[in-house]
Amino acid sequence: MRILQVSAEIFPLLKTGGLADIAGALPDALNGAGCEVRGVLPGFPAICAGLSQTSSVGQFTMPWGEVIHVVYGMLSDVSVGDGSFGVYVLMAPNLYDRPGNPYEGPDRQAYGDNHRRFAALGYAAAQLAWGLDSRWRPQLVHSHDWHAALAPAFLALAHDRPRVPSVFTVHNLAYQGVFGGGCFGDLGLPPQAFSVGGLEYFGNVSFMKAGLSYADRITTVSPTYAREIQTAEQGCGLDGLLRQRAVHLSGILNAVDAAVWSPTTDSLIPHRFDPRNMTGKALNKASLQVQCGLHVEADAPLFAMVSRLTDQKGLSLLLGAVDEIVAPGGQLLVLGSGDPYFEEAFSRVAQEHPGKVAVRLGYDESFAHQVFAGSDVTLVPSRYEPCGLTQMYGLKYGSLPLVRRVGGLADTVIDTDLETLDNRSANGFVFDRFDETDFRRAVRRAFGLYHRPAEWNRVRQTGMRSAFDWKDSALRYFHLYQELIPK
Ligand code: ADP
Ligand code: GLC
Repeated sequence: MRILQVSAEIFPLLKTGGLADIAGALPDALNGAGCEVRGVLPGFPAICAGLSQTSSVGQFTMPWGEVIHVVYGMLSDVSVGDGSFGVYVLMAPNLYDRPGNPYEGPDRQAYGDNHRRFAALGYAAAQLAWGLDSRWRPQLVHSHDWHAALAPAFLALAHDRPRVPSVFTVHNLAYQGVFGGGCFGDLGLPPQAFSVGGLEYFGNVSFMKAGLSYADRITTVSPTYAREIQTAEQGCGLDGLLRQRAVHLSGILNAVDAAVWSPTTDSLIPHRFDPRNMTGKALNKASLQVQCGLHVEADAPLFAMVSRLTDQKGLSLLLGAVDEIVAPGGQLLVLGSGDPYFEEAFSRVAQEHPGKVAVRLGYDESFAHQVFAGSDVTLVPSRYEPCGLTQMYGLKYGSLPLVRRVGGLADTVIDTDLETLDNRSANGFVFDRFDETDFRRAVRRAFGLYHRPAEWNRVRQTGMRSAFDWKDSALRYFHLYQELIPK
C-alpha cells in the first residue's frame, strides 16, 4: 500500500510542536503495518540540510508563475526503523528559504504569502498522486493540518485525472489557515471550490475547511477530540461541517515513539532507569534541580511543564495557583516559549520564588527529556487538547500527569481515586472544569498521594508501563486506508 504523507514539519529536522513528532514516527509505524510510506515536505532550510542521495523528480508551475522543482531524497536523521525515510521536497527558495519558524518571520507575524507557500505543498502532493514520479505513485494521500489541507481539494476536484483517495488529519482545529478571498486565484483550484460547500469561509479562503470538505476521510488525534470538535464550544466555527461529515470522521490516538522516548535507552538523560529500578530517576531529579537553580531536595515534589506558551495550554490556571505548589514545599519548573505575555509572567514568578520556581525560556529538545526524567508531576491543564504528547511522555518517564479532562488528555490519563488505586488503573490526576478551584484541588491531591510513597510508586509503575504503542494506532490508519484504496 503506497501512502504519501504530506506535512509541513518532521521530527527531528523541523519541529514547532507535536505535529512534527507524529510526522516523524508515523511512517515507520505504518511501514510496520504493511504500508510503504513516503513523505512530501516544503524545502525549508532545516529539511534541505537533512536530505541526502537526492535526485530530480520533475517540476510544476503555480498560478502566479513560480516554477517548483521537486527532488526525492532520504531524510537520514528521521527516527525510522532502517534509519532513513524517502521524501519528496519542494525546491522553491523564494517560498521556503527563510530562517527560523516555518510559518512566521522574526517579528512573530505570519508570512504574508503563506497561502502560496502551502498551496504549493498541497499541489505537489496532488502532482505526485497523478504521476509526477513515474517510478512511484501513491495510492492514497494522507495530509496533516491546514498546511497540507489543499491536497484533498486538488485530488477531489480534478475530474480529468485518476481519482486518488485522501485522508486528512486534524491536529489542531484552532489553526485554520484562513486568508482573504482575494488569494483564491493563487491556489489553482477550480472556481466551484470557492463556495460554501468548498473552502469559502465568510468570504475568505480556509485551508482547514478545504481539508474537511474534500478529504475522503477525516481523522483527528484522539477519540474524545473527534467528538468535541462536533460541538459549538470546540468546533472553532467548523462544527456544523464536522457534524455533516460525522460518518467519515474518527479519532485515532497518537502514540509514543519508543525509539525517542524511553527512559531505559534515552541518551539525552544523565541516568537511565526503568520501572524495576528507579534509582536513576532520583539522580535525574537532583541533577535537574542543580541545573535549574532549584533547591536540591529529594522530597520536594517537582511539578513541571514542557509546552508552547499559548493560551490553549491553560497557563493562566498555573500562574494563578503557583502558591498551591510552592507553599506546601513543592517546586515548579517550566520549559517553554511562545507568547511574550506568558514568557514575562513566568519569568516574574521565578524571580519571586528563587530556589522553588525555575523557568527556562526557549525550545530545547534534549532539556525536555531531562525535565520528564527528573520531575515528579507533568502539568497539562489545557483549555483544549487534541491529543497532547507531554502527558504520555510524563507517564513513560515516571512523572505523573496532572491534566484537565479534555481531548486526548481524557483518553490517556486515569484519575487517582480509591477505586482506580484499588484496581490499579490510576496513572495521574484529572480535573474537570477549567477553573482555579478545580486545578488547585488536583494539585492538593497530587501532594496527598506524594505523601504516601508506596501508593505513589504504584501509580507511577502503572504509568510507566502504559503502552501508547504506535502499532495499535498504525493498524487503525492501515484499516482506514484499506477502505479507500480500490482493490
Ligand atoms: P502541541 O503540539 O500542541 O504543542 P503536544 O503535547 O502534542 O502539544 O506536543 C508538544 C511537543 O513539543 C512535545 O514533543 C514537547 O516535548 C515539545 N515541546 C514543547 N515545548 C517545548 C520546548 N520549549 N522545548 C522542547 N520541547 C518542547
Ligand atoms: C497539535 C495538538 C496536540 C497534539 C499534536 C500532535 O499540536 O495541539 O494536542 O498532540 O498536534 O497530534
